[in-house]
Amino acid sequence: MCGIVGYIGGKKASSILVDGLKRLEYRGYDSWGIAAMGNKKLSYAKKVGRISQSGDLAKIGGNIGIGHTRWATHGGVSNKNAHPHFDCSKKFVVVHNGIIENFAGLKKQLISEGHKFESDTDTEVLAHLVEKYYDGDLKEAVRRALLEVDGTYGIAVMSTMEPDKIVAAKHGSPLIIGIGDDENFVASDATALMPYTKKVIYPEDNELVEITKDGFCTVTIDDKKVDRKVQEIDWEQGLAEKNDYPHFMLKEIFEQPQVVRNALAGRVIPTEGLAHLGGLNMSPEELLKVKRIVFVACGTAYYAGMVGKYMIEECASIPCEVEFASELRYKRILFDKDSLVLVVSQSGETADTIAAMKEIQRKGIKVLGISNVVGSTIARETDGGVFIHAGPEIGVASTKAFVGQITALAILALEFGRLKNLSFMEGKRIAEELKKIPEKIQKILDQSDKIEEIAGKYLNHDNFLYLGRRFNFPIALEGALKLKEISYVHAEAYSAGEMKHGPIALIDENFPSIFIVPKDSVYDKTISNMEEIRARKGKILMVTTEGNLDVEKYVDDVVYIPETLEMLEPLLTVIPMQLLAYYIAAMKGRDIDKPRNLAKSVTVE
Ligand code: G6P
Repeated sequence: MCGIVGYIGGKKASSILVDGLKRLEYRGYDSWGIAAMGNKKLSYAKKVGRISQSGDLAKIGGNIGIGHTRWATHGGVSNKNAHPHFDCSKKFVVVHNGIIENFAGLKKQLISEGHKFESDTDTEVLAHLVEKYYDGDLKEAVRRALLEVDGTYGIAVMSTMEPDKIVAAKHGSPLIIGIGDDENFVASDATALMPYTKKVIYPEDNELVEITKDGFCTVTIDDKKVDRKVQEIDWEQGLAEKNDYPHFMLKEIFEQPQVVRNALAGRVIPTEGLAHLGGLNMSPEELLKVKRIVFVACGTAYYAGMVGKYMIEECASIPCEVEFASELRYKRILFDKDSLVLVVSQSGETADTIAAMKEIQRKGIKVLGISNVVGSTIARETDGGVFIHAGPEIGVASTKAFVGQITALAILALEFGRLKNLSFMEGKRIAEELKKIPEKIQKILDQSDKIEEIAGKYLNHDNFLYLGRRFNFPIALEGALKLKEISYVHAEAYSAGEMKHGPIALIDENFPSIFIVPKDSVYDKTISNMEEIRARKGKILMVTTEGNLDVEKYVDDVVYIPETLEMLEPLLTVIPMQLLAYYIAAMKGRDIDKPRNLAKSVTVE
């Protein structure tokens, strides 16, 4: 989704902007642009496609600038619709993330007042509004412009009239200010700032920040001064580099043993069979009062919520529901203060998830967040929660964040379970097994060559059916999603038991099925479903528990995973799903880290 970078200091702004925008590429975009100023002279470049050090950039001098990657919403993908946008006199420059919902009315009004528009975007009205209200004070003009605007924004504005400052503002879209030595930054995402500074401030919604080379000052949209503390980001820069991997996605898949270790660190006590998540900010008494848990999320995080539902129902017998954030916000909220809502979001910035969170909070219901990004909106605006500590996830298709989310949910299930149903011995087994998961994931990763070979055999199929039951039903959904996202091959997933109620009609020798069937409580039932496919000549790739050699006579291909507790199987079964999708996409030559039409962080509704 759209990205923003701004710089003011002593260095060449355009180089820092291009570098920062490249770091935001993973969010997904279709066009980009930068503008910079030196000696009151403004220059800019805008382009459709990927960021490159094109000839135009050399001409862009100056030590202050703003840049943007655009993911089209209003107006097609074109150079003229790429940001930055300008007022009529090209004295005011704006980059914007979000959507100005009342832009059509504002545009009409501005045109009637004589303003000339160049683009089809909603953003351009901001530049003209700033021009309209400018009276010698850029921050004030931006503030007055924003008072007219409905919708969401993270913006950065600069002007040749005041070439020593950038004004940034936020409402519903992410924005962060980086603090350096004699230089400062603005960005939509900390990843852009990684090589430059770890010191940041997080403006809140309805706040404006005036940034100069040596300072910043924050006011609310009502012009009240606010103090924002400088905080430190703890991510290591190396984590955002690809190292020797061909894609971030593959690197992130291989990081998963460490991701589980990070998520478990200091939270699980195997000798006592206990778990404790300090960030929940809830006492055992408060946890015991929870009568219902509702997971709210989008995409892969939604499937993590499904796994969480099975885990918590199993360990703590608390009824759980899983809701798409984009649906929940338009429904009647039928749960109350006895319920606990868990919003799951890797980025902590997904617009639908944030909107649903706010709607639930409005009803006075407790909301906790499960997120990977410290300082993200969800992390800041929930009552507590769990950080998964997976490090930056750059590949658009989520992998390690999913495994981190499920690990966090397993810990939560153990914590709840031990307060309620689970015995000491049951708790101990779960805690001990959790500790063994990293080495078991590694054992599956060590089979990546074999999975690559299998991928080659299935490369030319256009359709896939993914099947699993109970804990592995969400993994079937996640496996199919991964394949669709990065290889653009059609895949759908079903609970294996439901397959006979419809999808079986699709099966023939050209429609392979991926069966996720570890040796667990639903093994025999799922094998019957597999027989139904075999009887219709459907090809089968099976993921099952090691030692289950009998199946080799029945299925076309098998990937073995180590044995674990049934509730922890998703942490293992998802690994072959990720690798299969990765290798099929790689063989098809897809743009794996930045698949077409997708965005890492979907900051529009
Ligand atoms: C986008 C991404 C998905 C992700 C979803 C939710 O669609 O492409 O990979 O699962 O957003 O993102 P979140 O950051 O809220 O987990």
